[in-house]
Order: sequence, then C-alpha cells, then structure tokens
Amino acid sequence: MLIRQKPVIRSFQITPEHNYLNRRDFIGSTALAGTSLLFAPGCAGADDKTPAANPEVNSFEDITRYNNFYEFGLDKEDPAKLSGAFNTSPWSVTIDGEAEITGKFNFEDIIGPHAIEERIYRFRCVEAWSMVVPWNGISLSNVLQRFKPTSKAKFVAFETVYRPAEMPGQRRGVLDFPYREGLTIAEAMHPLTLLATGLYGVDLPGQNGAPLRLIVPWKYGFKSIKSIVRISFTETRPYTTWSDAMPAEYGFYANVNPEVDHPRWSQARERRIGSGLFAKKQPTLMFNGYGDEVASLYTGLDLTRHF
Ligand code: MTE
Repeated sequence: MLIRQKPVIRSFQITPEHNYLNRRDFIGSTALAGTSLLFAPGCAGADDKTPAANPEVNSFEDITRYNNFYEFGLDKEDPAKLSGAFNTSPWSVTIDGEAEITGKFNFEDIIGPHAIEERIYRFRCVEAWSMVVPWNGISLSNVLQRFKPTSKAKFVAFETVYRPAEMPGQRRGVLDFPYREGLTIAEAMHPLTLLATGLYGVDLPGQNGAPLRLIVPWKYGFKSIKSIVRISFTETRPYTTWSDAMPAEYGFYANVNPEVDHPRWSQARERRIGSGLFAKKQPTLMFNGYGDEVASLYTGLDLTRHF
C-alpha cells in the first residue's frame, strides 16, 4: 500500500499543550511554549518531512529505523531490513465479539468517512527509550462506535496478522504469535487513543505496523500493537502477549509510571532516541505527560499493583 495518506484536513488541539513547542512561538523565539498547540493543516508535508519544524519531533529516519516489531526480528534494525516482503494491500480487519455489527471489513471501511488527523505524541517504550512522533490516524473511538458495542463490551482485544511466510520472526517463534493486546473499553474509547495509518504524512512503513496500528500515548509502547487484523469486544479481560507471557515484568495496564520500576531496570528516566550518545537521560513523566487527560480513568486503582 504505497498510496499517500489523505491530506490532513483537520487540526486538533488534542495533544496536551505543555508537551510540545508551539510552532509559531518556536519560529518566533525558539522558546519552549506553554501556550496552545496548533498543528497547521498540511504542515506534515510528505516531502519535506519536517512537521511543525519542531526540534522535539524525531526524524523520519529515527522513527523508521529503530523499531520493535518482533515478527521481523529482535534487533532494532531488523524490522526496517526484513519487512520488504510484507504485503499490506489489500488488508482486512475482522470485528467480532460483543457488538451489534460484526464481520470482516476492508481497510477503507474500517477508516470510514473520518478525516485523517495529525497527532504529535510522545512515545515511551518500556525499555526506557522515547521518541516524539507525528502520527496520522483517527481516534479509535470513531471506528469502534460504528460497530455498536453492546453493554457487555468491557474490553477491546487486538490481534496482529499471522504470516510466517512474510514475517521471519514468526518462523522463529520468539513470542507467542500472533501478537495480541487489549484495553479496557474506557481506554479504547478515550479520544487520545489513536488508530494510526501513517506518520509524517505518508502511509505507515511496514516496520512501523502498516497499514493500521494502535497508539496509546500514555502507556508503554508494547500496548501499541501493530498491523492489526482483528478487533474483538470482550466481556472479560483478553489475553495479551507480554503481560501473559511475563506477568511479573509487564502488566496489563502498562501505564507509564516513573515510580514503578521494571524488575530489571528503573523507569525513572528515559533516553531520547536521536539526542546523541552523550545526552543526559530525561525524567519519565507520569502517564507519559498525559495525566491531565487520562488519570481519571484509574481513580481508586492501586497503580503499583495494577502496573
Ligand atoms: N506490535 C507487534 N505486533 N509486535 C511487536 O513486537 N512491539 C511493541 C509495539 N507493537 C510490537 C508491537 C513495542 S515493544 C513497541 S516499543 C512498539 O511497538 C514500537 O513501535 P515503533 O517500532 O513504531 O517505534
């Protein structure tokens, strides 16, 4: 699927404003802005690949050459090198479970009439590195609502394509493939949760989860499942690859939390990809900086136990 993304025709002030540079302020003063964030329509030019001329945003090269996609191998460079034979067109997604409308739908029907937006999000991997990425996509809630989930739908489960012939990592069986992830229905319906179809204004490259992936910016990156072929509405908590394989290390919630360390390393700080070998690590932000928007989802939940 080598077509360009539909132009970004709407701007949203959906990313917390304190997270990013205001483009106009940056151009004017290079100062960090605490004021409103505006994404100028079309500023994510596919050719210049300089969204918002924003120094916080990682380069296209960083984002597409340093990846985790175990279906293509364990090294960060493997997905870019080994995803050339991955065929993502045509693509269909099965919708099943607790919803009035279920079935198999092609990519275009899943996206439906919604305009593709640009969302510049912080992205924090559980391995304590981070990036800032200009994604293109639509709120997952826009998609899910069209299938009319019933009152029994308490969770949403996601599954990645299983195609060992095209995905060498699946032939090696390093994980329990197909890769699966899940969210509570409230998390899935949250307006920040993005179904991404592109980045920097072009279709998602194979290594980044073409043609359709999840982005949940307040959670560790492993929740952001790639190359989705199934979305299921479930009454009970679904199986999720990492937290079921290693429950002591990876939780179902996986909210970014500097106070809850991974058993083998600290989560208090993170390394910004692209900041240079000698750059200082930066402090990890609770909920990856999206606390104002999402903390209320977890009221009363002990985030140390439910990590
Ligand atoms: N989805 C699938 N299907 N397989 C994977 O191995 N890795 C996860 C997530 N989604 C993964 C996946 C992890 S650990 C991270 S950090 C992000 O994808 C990385 O996304 P990126 O390569 O676009 O930065």
